[in-house]
Amino acid sequence: MGMFKDMLKSNESIFRDSIPLDYDYQPKRITSREKEQQQIVFSIKPLLQKRNGRNLIITGKPGLGKTVVCRHILSDIEDETDEIIPIYINCWKKNTSYKIANEICNLIGYKFTQNKRTDELLNVIIKELNKESVVFVFDEIDKVEDFDFMYSFLEEIYRKTFILITNYKEWIINLDERIKSRLTPETMEFTQYNASQIKDILSERKKYAFVEGVWDENAFDKIIEETTELGDVRKGLFFMRESGNTAEDKSSKNITTEHVEEALKKIQEFSVANKEELDPENKFILDVIKDNSGKKIGELFKTYEEKGGKGNYKAFQRRIKKLEDNKFITTEKISGGAEGKTTIINFQQKTLSDF
Ligand SMILES: Nc1ncnc2c1ncn2[C@@H]1O[C@H](COP(=O)(O)OP(=O)(O)O)[C@@H](O)[C@H]1O
Ligand SMILES: [Mg+2]
Repeated sequence: MGMFKDMLKSNESIFRDSIPLDYDYQPKRITSREKEQQQIVFSIKPLLQKRNGRNLIITGKPGLGKTVVCRHILSDIEDETDEIIPIYINCWKKNTSYKIANEICNLIGYKFTQNKRTDELLNVIIKELNKESVVFVFDEIDKVEDFDFMYSFLEEIYRKTFILITNYKEWIINLDERIKSRLTPETMEFTQYNASQIKDILSERKKYAFVEGVWDENAFDKIIEETTELGDVRKGLFFMRESGNTAEDKSSKNITTEHVEEALKKIQEFSVANKEELDPENKFILDVIKDNSGKKIGELFKTYEEKGGKGNYKAFQRRIKKLEDNKFITTEKISGGAEGKTTIINFQQKTLSDF
């Protein structure tokens, strides 16, 4: 008895709707990226005049709006014209030519994909897309394992704009020359937001996600300050949600600075606790990666041995895989260069949202 007495009833929740705090929520309004949007539109514009489009590689750290800006433009295209087909692929999820071809078939409504080989699917897509013009957005392109699809599209689709998005600027350097020369892309870097831009973005979400007036002004300022320092809007959304949860756990009808601080502490403790859970050998390897983020796996193995690591290369690879599965690191496969295929390893600062 009385266990639920102090809890807020559903009509007392400080959340109005938590969906606007989801990372993949499409906000109605994009702020602060006018220049970037203009350049993207500029590369698509020739398609409206039935000419070939320009290609673009977009780089920038996580949480700077690369995905949301591109998706916003694609959805405008969808609404405003039938002459351009918008195709968005997340290459983290679809990382081979076969998966990409299947997904595009899906998007264009082609259903007879069963028992077809990749090249057959690609031919269907090429035929279909050549009836109109097409804008491809390949997000997280560095996660792609083979580029067969891109060769085919570059060669055989007549009116197209390729937009490739990656968090890693270095990825461009290692891009296969044959692709690079066919793409001749422009590049654009998304730069860090300042505090007032972060405030614009988060205030908009706050309006939809929380009941009006529940945020103490100082508490919200604290969120903006932390987010600006980390430079990742995604983290800000996560802080807001956690602060709201902390306030509700305490049956408070307001979110105060104390709630925000507690939420931030929880987040930090959680990520440290998880690193501590790694076995000593994995922790040792993670530290090597942390100090040498962005290096090739072979180089990392050398450093690991120099620092006293005793495992063989196969065991090292297995441990790298485990660290990747647990999202402590990301890996990118890179082709070209003197030694053919290799893997680049990047250290990832982990927060609660990554679990
Ligand atoms: N300029 C912006 N206007 C509105 N929301 C934004 C803006 N920039 C980022 N966001 C939001 O921040 C989060 C991270 O943005 P995202 O596009 O996923 O970043 P990236 O692709 O660069 O890692 C998303 O929830 C997105 O809606
Ligand atoms: Mg993204």
